Amino acid sequence: MKILVDNADLKEIKKIYEVYPVDGVTCNPTILKKTGRNPFEVLKEIRAFIGKDADLHVQVISAKAEDMVVEAHKIQEVLGENTFIKVPVVPEGLKAIRLLAKEGANVTGTAIYNQMQGYLAGKAGAAYVAPYVNRIDNLGSNGIQVAKDIHDMLKKAGLKTELLAASFKNSQQVLELAKYGLGASTIAPDVIEGLIKVDAARIAVDVFTKDFEALCGEDSTML
Ligand code: E4P
Repeated sequence: MKILVDNADLKEIKKIYEVYPVDGVTCNPTILKKTGRNPFEVLKEIRAFIGKDADLHVQVISAKAEDMVVEAHKIQEVLGENTFIKVPVVPEGLKAIRLLAKEGANVTGTAIYNQMQGYLAGKAGAAYVAPYVNRIDNLGSNGIQVAKDIHDMLKKAGLKTELLAASFKNSQQVLELAKYGLGASTIAPDVIEGLIKVDAARIAVDVFTKDFEALCGEDSTML
């Protein structure tokens, strides 16, 4: 499963990249708002840092399909190959996904809250579809189940579309979908860090260090 960083703060992204084996970055207009900066300036810096081969998912804003397509062209032109155009799966968005897919663009259907949104976006040609796991849970439904259903429906239909599960709030949600074999998950930095925050492991390492120092002296290592 690919893991992407759901954030637009370059400092945060760099911190995650230093430690975790991640494959790219996603953002949405709300995430960009938090930077308080010109979106293209921010996105160009992110692209320069992650490199041209990494996945970068960027959302269009327009309400009409034809305008979404024009926006998509600008995003592609500025941010290059391996940039995925996030298009909300509402009726105009679905139309835009079809138009963009015909051009061969990389499209991610986003703002997905139910199975049919995911399925139709895949059928329209999206490379990824992004169900909002935790937001679905908050609506009293089951985000994990929605993601699994979409995954199964797309596979049964023989479509190549992969899932990019999104809106995670805890490790368990990520684990459930990683075990299910999803194509990708996009995760906020604090949730990524929580994935291997295990007190027992930290305590075990402390004991190993103390025992080694008792044997070889303070601050000694295998060097
Ligand atoms: C990513 O594509 C989504 O926009 C994002 O994961 C939504 O996350 P949130 O529910 O934490 O806002």
